[in-house]
Amino acid sequence: MSRTLFVTSALPYANGPIHLGHMVEHVQSDTWVRYQRMAGNRVIYCCADDAHGSGIMLKAEAEGVSPEQLIARFKNEHLRDFVDFGVAYDNYHSTHSDENRELSALIYTRLRDAGLIESRDVEQAYDAKRGMFLPDRFIKGSCPVCKTPGQYGDNCEACGATYRPTDLIDPVSVVSGEPPVQKSSEHFFFRLPAMESYLRDFLKSGVVQDSVAPKLAEWFKAGLKDWDISRDAPYFGFEIPDAPGKYFYVWVDAPVGYMASLKHLAARDADVDFDAIWSKDSDAEVYHFIGKDIIYFHALFWPAMLEASGFRSPTGVFAHGMITLNGEKMSKSRGTFITARTWLDHLPAEPLRYFYASRITGSIEDMDLGLQDFMQIVNADLVGKYVNIASRTANFITKRFDGELGSEVDQALLSQVAGAADEIASAFDARNFAKATRLTMAAADAVNAYIAEQQPWVIAKDAERGADLHRVCTTALTAFRDLTTYLKPVVPKMAADVEAFLNLAPLQWSDIGRPLAGQRINKFKPLMTRIEDKQVTAMQDAAKQMAEAAKAPAAPATKDDDVIAIDDFMKVDLRVARVAEAAPVDGADKLIQLTLDVGELGTRNVFAGIKSAYAPEDLVGKLVVLVANLAPRKMRFGVSEGMVIAAGDGQGIFVVSPDAGATPGSRVK
Ligand code: MSP
Ligand code: ZN
Repeated sequence: MSRTLFVTSALPYANGPIHLGHMVEHVQSDTWVRYQRMAGNRVIYCCADDAHGSGIMLKAEAEGVSPEQLIARFKNEHLRDFVDFGVAYDNYHSTHSDENRELSALIYTRLRDAGLIESRDVEQAYDAKRGMFLPDRFIKGSCPVCKTPGQYGDNCEACGATYRPTDLIDPVSVVSGEPPVQKSSEHFFFRLPAMESYLRDFLKSGVVQDSVAPKLAEWFKAGLKDWDISRDAPYFGFEIPDAPGKYFYVWVDAPVGYMASLKHLAARDADVDFDAIWSKDSDAEVYHFIGKDIIYFHALFWPAMLEASGFRSPTGVFAHGMITLNGEKMSKSRGTFITARTWLDHLPAEPLRYFYASRITGSIEDMDLGLQDFMQIVNADLVGKYVNIASRTANFITKRFDGELGSEVDQALLSQVAGAADEIASAFDARNFAKATRLTMAAADAVNAYIAEQQPWVIAKDAERGADLHRVCTTALTAFRDLTTYLKPVVPKMAADVEAFLNLAPLQWSDIGRPLAGQRINKFKPLMTRIEDKQVTAMQDAAKQMAEAAKAPAAPATKDDDVIAIDDFMKVDLRVARVAEAAPVDGADKLIQLTLDVGELGTRNVFAGIKSAYAPEDLVGKLVVLVANLAPRKMRFGVSEGMVIAAGDGQGIFVVSPDAGATPGSRVK
């Protein structure tokens, strides 16, 4: 019976680039999916960008674009990065989509109708200047424990203490720089404790790895808590159906995004049946690949939401550890933050896929990307052991046997190589890619030992030994075909090159051990070259440069609604003017009455509030900038026909003055 698997990776946030940490997850799920397909299973593989939340809203503001523009840009970038790393989703969607809006609303209303939603008032930090509630990480202050300044509202990076934002010393809003105030507002809660017995049973079914169990036990022991699922406007997300001004917290509609991506795919692919996968009686399997930092959401909230709203729950939640770079946490400021694109600018993708595979064991242990290890392992295994088999034997077949493989083989070696298939398959299935690659390389070692022993280059010199040469090279290349099959989930592009070289249809697991007698092969072309030190160094330098550039002070944030188009600016008629007369105004001690010569526009009478900084007589003859098309304003002392531009920030007033030589009446642009 053929199985149907729906597989996802966690949805990356749409406010930053894909980095090598994300990639360990996407490469992992992609490798698993490729293995499952080669083993004959039907797999639907989906992902999406996670497009909602305050972070995205504020980042868009800071860039002066709409959130929709921001998430569209990142979605394109993300998708390109995945494609270039060989990660082949059947669909890559966005949580900011119609499908997701509908499904999120459906799930919410079902939870509500089942009596699982409660509302109550919550006091929270509020930025009164910006008019928004502040998530913990948008509040900064000094750590209450070690007093280090500049720490976020939830934990201290210096001493590791965790606390509430109200514990911070001298807290300020990251958005406005003002101290936050406490403000109360109505929030909606999902009653997670009501789902406790369901969750306990569900988690016993082997849905998570054993290594996750202690963490879960801890959470149950501490007691499940109601989950706050609403956020107040302004928020970039979906409004809650029956609660105007309230939005779903990003983590509510994020996992629903898995379903939404499938639904979006089903709309264009008749073979994909949404209900057959998500209905309670589905016999399909659902697997989520996630990092261990988001287990709580996927092992508790998500299955509880699904169960209570009448959908099936995941079959497996596969958590992995975090990747570090040269033993350090990836950090933007330290230059150890490497984006997928920086990598691709300097290095090929598949060697990294191979390295990751060599580190992925299916456990939640962290993994290190040591760049020296990377070079050493990739060069030793892929170039030295694997590719070497073909490069030492293929040319003899082409030159001496007209490109045709023979019917005689050394079966003992081939049986040994093919004999590893089941164990390698189980390792792939269990996501222990480290074991799969290790077993594959052990098989490659056996093939290399065989070649070293047979010495085809020596046999080739003996005209009498043509049959031996044919047998040895055919044996080696048949083994090479099996090794390629083992490696194909990890390095699919290289495997495709081998399929072309050996003239084979896409390799399946069932091809392992099949004889290749009479197979015509093509001329061998190098499949891969050694990774050089200088490529790695250049990649690291580029990452450091990006870190430096990011450290440079950012331009002050411009608020979205403050941004104007050039056309708007062009509406303002700015003109050079010469102060012809300047006089104090009786009864107004801040004003000076100016008579301005504006060239072709004639003279203008303007009242300017600049007397605290200028004596009227000092202004006569000065060039100024006039807003010439401002609607005339009737004041107590007369009509003001325009405005003179001045800088003023509380420290003083500084009239803006064109350099000498500017002609009165000329335009300022
Ligand atoms: N948007 C949420 C996930 C929602 S899923 C319904 C999120 N996004 S994320 O961009 O921060 O992370 C996406 C995935 O990348 C997570 O599974 C996370 O664990 C993983 N990783 C992020 N940094 C990582 C490493 N340094 N190493 C390994 N995985 C990492 O969380
Ligand atoms: Zn501290």
